[in-house]
Amino acid sequence: MPYGCVSKKCWNLKYKEKNMAKKLWEGRFSEKTTEPVEAFSASIEVDKRLYAYDIAGSIAHCKTLAQAAVISDVDADALIQGLNQIKTEIETGKFRFDESLEDIHMHIESRLFEIVGKVAQKLHTARSRNDQVALDVRMFLRDETLNIIRRLVDLQYVLIHLAKAHEDVVLPGYTHMQRAQAVLFAHHLLAYYEMFIRDIGRFEGGLNRINVMPLGSAALAGTTFPIDRNYTAKLLDFPEVSANSIDAVSDRDFILEFLSAASICMMHLSRLSEEIILWTTFEFGFIELPDAFATGSSIMPQKKNPDVAELVRGKTGRVFGDLMALLTMMKALPLAYNRDMQEDKILLFDTADILSACIDMYVRMLPHLTINKDTMEKAATSGFLNATDLADYLAGKGMPFREAHHCVGRAVRAALQQKKELHELSLKELQSFSALIQEDVFDSLSLKQLIDRRTSFGGTASKRVKAASKKAEQQLGKISKRFGISTTGQG
Ligand code: ARG
Repeated sequence: MPYGCVSKKCWNLKYKEKNMAKKLWEGRFSEKTTEPVEAFSASIEVDKRLYAYDIAGSIAHCKTLAQAAVISDVDADALIQGLNQIKTEIETGKFRFDESLEDIHMHIESRLFEIVGKVAQKLHTARSRNDQVALDVRMFLRDETLNIIRRLVDLQYVLIHLAKAHEDVVLPGYTHMQRAQAVLFAHHLLAYYEMFIRDIGRFEGGLNRINVMPLGSAALAGTTFPIDRNYTAKLLDFPEVSANSIDAVSDRDFILEFLSAASICMMHLSRLSEEIILWTTFEFGFIELPDAFATGSSIMPQKKNPDVAELVRGKTGRVFGDLMALLTMMKALPLAYNRDMQEDKILLFDTADILSACIDMYVRMLPHLTINKDTMEKAATSGFLNATDLADYLAGKGMPFREAHHCVGRAVRAALQQKKELHELSLKELQSFSALIQEDVFDSLSLKQLIDRRTSFGGTASKRVKAASKKAEQQLGKISKRFGISTTGQG
C-alpha cells in the first residue's frame, strides 16, 4: 500500500493537497484551479491508456538528454529506474490517479518526483507536453494499426475458408435488390476479400505517416538544447523524424487517416452485416446464424435475431461520427497546439476499440454460419437470372446484342404470362422468338453454364473463383510475412 493505511476520503484529501501544491505549471499562477475546472479539463480517464508509451518515450528522452550531456548519466539512471517503477505500479494497480493532475504525463512526472526527488524536475528539459502527447499517440497508433491489420488478415482467412468450403454453392446476385444473375457464393465472399485487402492497404499506408518521431519539437519552436533527435527516433524505432516543429505538435492527420480508413472498413463490415441480416430473414433463408451469436425475443418465442450484425451496422455510425468530430475539431485550429486537440484521443480510442471488436466478432461468427445451399440454388433458378445468357446465346449466333436483348425481353414477357421460367418454355415456344434458337439453348440456360461460362478475368466461373481464392491465399501469405503474422485462420 504505497500511501499508507488511511481511509479513502482522508487519503484523497491528503493526496490532493500534496499534488495541488505540485502542479507542474503553477509558478505563473496566484490562484489554484477550482475543482470543477480540474474535472472539466482532466483527460486522465482517457489518456491513462497511453501510460506505457509515455514511459517508453520518457526513458528514450532521458537517454537523449544524457547523450547530449544535458543531464548526467547518474541522473538519467535514477530517472529511468523511477519510470520503470511507475510502470510496475500502474500494471499492478498500485498507482493512484487523480483528476487534479490532469493527464497521464503529469501523473507520471508527479509520481516520479515522489520516487526520485528533485532530479525528476530535469525530465521535462527540451520537451513539452505538446510533443510528448504527439509521440505517445503515434506510438499507440502504430501498435493499434498493426493490431487491426492482424485482425483483418484473420478475417480474410476466414472468408477464404468459407469460400473454399462452399465452392459449388450458387446464389442469385442482385442489383437494385432485384435478382440479377447467378453467382457463386464463393465469388460473393471474395468480393469482401477485395474490400478488406484495400482496407489493409489503407492501414498499411497510414503507418508511414504515423511513424514520424515528433519529440524534441518541444512546445512548438524546437529546443535550445543540443539533443540528437535521430537518436531518440532510433531508440523508439521510428524511421523518420518530424521536419517542422510547428507541424509536429499540431498535426493530427495521422489520426484522421486512421479514422478514415476505419470508417471505410466499418462501411464494408456494415454492408456484410446488412447482407447477413437479410439472408437470415425468413424471406431469404440463405443462411442461419449459430445460436451463440444470435438472441431471442423476450416476447416472441420464435425469434432468432441477428444482433451481432445489427450492432456492427449500428456501431459504424459511431465510427463515422468520430471521424466527423475530429475533422470538425481540427478545421478551425490555428497553429500550433490547442487544447481542443485533447479530445482526439476519445475519438481515436473509441474507433480503434469498435473496429477491433467488430472484426473480432466476424472472425468468430463466420466459420459457424449454416449455408442453406438448396435455398440459395432454388432462388438462383427463378426470377429469369438466365435472361442475359439467352441474349448472349443469340448474340453468339450472330444476332446484334441490342436485338437479342429485345428478343429475350419479349420471351420473358411471354414466360411471365405463363408463370414459367425461360428454360421451362418449350423449344418451339423459344423458337417463336428467334429461329437461331436450337436444342443446345437449354444447356446454355442451365445453372451450371450460367456460372461456368463467365470466364472473363474477375468473373464468377468456377475455375476463375478457384484461382482467385488461391491467389488471395498467396497474397495473404505475403502480407502475413510482412507483418510477422503466424495465423492461417484455420484455428
Ligand atoms: N492532455 C493534453 C492533450 O491530450 C496534453 C498536452 C497538453 N498541453 C498543453 N499545453 N496544455 O492534448
